Amino acid sequence: MKVAVFISGRGTNLQALIDVCNQDDTPAEIALVVSNRPNAQGLQRAAAAGIATVVVDHTTFDSREAFDKALDTAVRRAGCEFICLAGFMRVLTDDFMRDWRDRILNIHPAILPAFPGLNCHARAIEAGVKITGCTVHYARPELDNGPIIAQAAVPVMPDDTEETLAARILESEHRIYPMALKLIAQGRVRVVNEIVRIQDVDLANGELVNPASA
Ligand code: GAR
Repeated sequence: MKVAVFISGRGTNLQALIDVCNQDDTPAEIALVVSNRPNAQGLQRAAAAGIATVVVDHTTFDSREAFDKALDTAVRRAGCEFICLAGFMRVLTDDFMRDWRDRILNIHPAILPAFPGLNCHARAIEAGVKITGCTVHYARPELDNGPIIAQAAVPVMPDDTEETLAARILESEHRIYPMALKLIAQGRVRVVNEIVRIQDVDLANGELVNPASA
């Protein structure tokens, strides 16, 4: 399965996806990394791993449609059949989402459907929740919405700041995102009535919740 990863920044989730694709039992290859920011640190991670990169700078397009068209062209040109959003901070058009339905994943640093959108760590602290976490899901036109593949729960500590909470959640992101991509590449994930069903997964042992490793 040839995968394109979309990034906007440092690319630590991209790195986790690169690493899992290097495992023998992950039949996926990251064939392209796309960034909307020319100086995204993740571009260097891709280059270091020998992965092709392309910058599609949103500031140079007149419309969202034109930007998305350029993204779509880059992905198809690279022969990719699947997209992972990994800290990609642009909203994609409904048409793009429809074209890539069930072939586009997102990671969000909260337990969806709680705290979609921006600043979710600060909002979790403000709300006083004791547990938050992260979610890997198929992307749908509505922001941070779609069938959930895996989630991890992360405690909120009394003295947490946005930064300390984000760092703790990020560790879990690096476990569940690779795991979800591996399950999909292995052909074990189906979406039935907008609910994800996974073959041969040990739900009793909570493999998809707080997994020990990818
Ligand atoms: C991650 O925490 C990811 O969950 C978040 O951006 C960060 C990217 O970090 N994504 C979103 O908030 C999207 N709604 P990274 O560039 O180091 O992977």
